[in-house]
Amino acid sequence: MPENTNSTERVALTPWWRTAVVYQVYPRSFADADGDGIGDLRGIASRLDYLQDLGVDVLWLSPVYPSPQDDNGYDISDYQDIDPTFGTLAEFDALLEGVHERGMKLVMDLVVNHTSDEHAWFAESRSSKDSPKRDWYWWRPPREGRTPGEPGAEPTNWKSFFSGPTWEYDEETEEYYLHLFSRKQPDLNWENPEVRHAVYAMMRWWLDRGVDGFRMDVINMISKTLPLTDGTVQDGERYGEGFNLFAGGPRIHEFLAEMHAEVFAGRSAELLTVGEMPGVTVEEARLFTDPERAEVDMVFQFEHVALDQGAGKWDVRGLDLRDLKASLGRWQEGLAEIGWNSLYWNNHDQPRIVSRFGDDGEHRVRSAKMLGTVLHMHRGTPYVYQGEEIGMTNAPFAGIEDFEDLESVNHYHHAVDAGEDPGSVLAALRTMSRDNARTPMQWDDSAHAGFTAGTPWLAVNPNHREINAARAVADPDSVHAHYRRLIDLRHTVPVVAHGDFEMLLPDDPHVYAFLRRHESEELLVVANFTGDEVGAEVKDADQWSGEELLLGNLEQGARRPDGPGIVLAPWEARVYRRVV
Ligand code: NOJ
Repeated sequence: MPENTNSTERVALTPWWRTAVVYQVYPRSFADADGDGIGDLRGIASRLDYLQDLGVDVLWLSPVYPSPQDDNGYDISDYQDIDPTFGTLAEFDALLEGVHERGMKLVMDLVVNHTSDEHAWFAESRSSKDSPKRDWYWWRPPREGRTPGEPGAEPTNWKSFFSGPTWEYDEETEEYYLHLFSRKQPDLNWENPEVRHAVYAMMRWWLDRGVDGFRMDVINMISKTLPLTDGTVQDGERYGEGFNLFAGGPRIHEFLAEMHAEVFAGRSAELLTVGEMPGVTVEEARLFTDPERAEVDMVFQFEHVALDQGAGKWDVRGLDLRDLKASLGRWQEGLAEIGWNSLYWNNHDQPRIVSRFGDDGEHRVRSAKMLGTVLHMHRGTPYVYQGEEIGMTNAPFAGIEDFEDLESVNHYHHAVDAGEDPGSVLAALRTMSRDNARTPMQWDDSAHAGFTAGTPWLAVNPNHREINAARAVADPDSVHAHYRRLIDLRHTVPVVAHGDFEMLLPDDPHVYAFLRRHESEELLVVANFTGDEVGAEVKDADQWSGEELLLGNLEQGARRPDGPGIVLAPWEARVYRRVV
């Protein structure tokens, strides 16, 4: 039963997803039932009991639609079917039924900033300048005075997310089409109402089939600033930065409100919408997630996963914990009264969090639990990415031939061609490549980790002998056991879901600390982001250390350092509870 808790009365009823935890499945790498080395729907169905046992409420499936798989399914050639690699529509329906039978929900990935170049819409659009669908995509003539197809003739100077220009020349019709991602991912023109209504119809079709919502891929890029103009070129760069010109354009709120009205309004089912929005600010996120504006329920923002990078994602720096606290603290504050946060460390585009902000060696288990604790004790809806709940790590990629991800492979070749040292480029890939997230799920210690009976499309991490779900499920001290507890706390302890948030110790470089409060309940969360013992210098530490320890992450038998106050063991996290 939803409760009536919101004091501002902006939201009469607490939405169901405020107490929910979402689990992301990357189908390609989750479980392979047919032995072709690629995960599939029957594989996912065979693991539903595992997910139910973990306690998650919602599954988000990365794309399973027909696709040439240039970007592992984020290049869709038919929005209303299932790729044969993953299965059939009947198998999808069976999976959905299995999810619902277990009291969970299923959210689809919605990739509508672009289609595949093999989508029928694009084939039609590309066929001639007079095609009725010509205007469904962004076609532009070559730059005046330049030779068509030659570098510099692109209509704007933007750099694509996957290296190279954002424009591809089409010899047939002698125009360029826009692709913010790969050349096989042409951008749809949302200015054209026919495009929007075709997308809405497709979304309704999936909802009518029973799906419970959508995660919307780069949805803030569907509105571009017109006319399309050049971005600024930084010293030493070949391309201009177009981000502010193609993301968060002037019609973005209008489009999302229209989508909401056309697709979601009036449906009685409990649905979930989450918009992936690179570059979104907290002020904008407040507008996007204000329930009164009826756009989306929550957004994925990227600030906290860019803090360990300099000029772009391949410029890898260490994390300064103070930056993480400042960033996440600002988001907590900014969406405290209006709107709602999503909470995540990992997804299919991010390296593994225990390797990134924790210690994937000696303290892997403890630091993975610490990171989970910090995230799940924030206010918002937590997302768990497959394998995070068993503390999976980055992979030991030896050379460029071990990578599959087109972003990584393209970057390598462009950077090396531009004169960068191959060893340094590889080092950055090992740390940041999306393939770190995409190695197969480690189910057990058998060959290929129980993921497939065939040859996996991407090599299994050799550490699956030690790090695997079978072992974690059987071990009461495992990362998995800890995540189960975290998920359970969100369901059962109201302050975890509903409490307000106050960041403590903003200037402490080692300890992450915050308070949560709800009615008479108060939580103190303290976490050590280092491999040394450190004191948590919070106010009333002596009193807090005598309160109930709701959750800790030390192994059974491990020694908790002695006070006075609160002294944390390496990578230790504690959650104290008191009633005031
Ligand atoms: C964001 C997705 O998460 C990523 O995997 C994909 O490559 C791009 N959008 C393009 O769809």
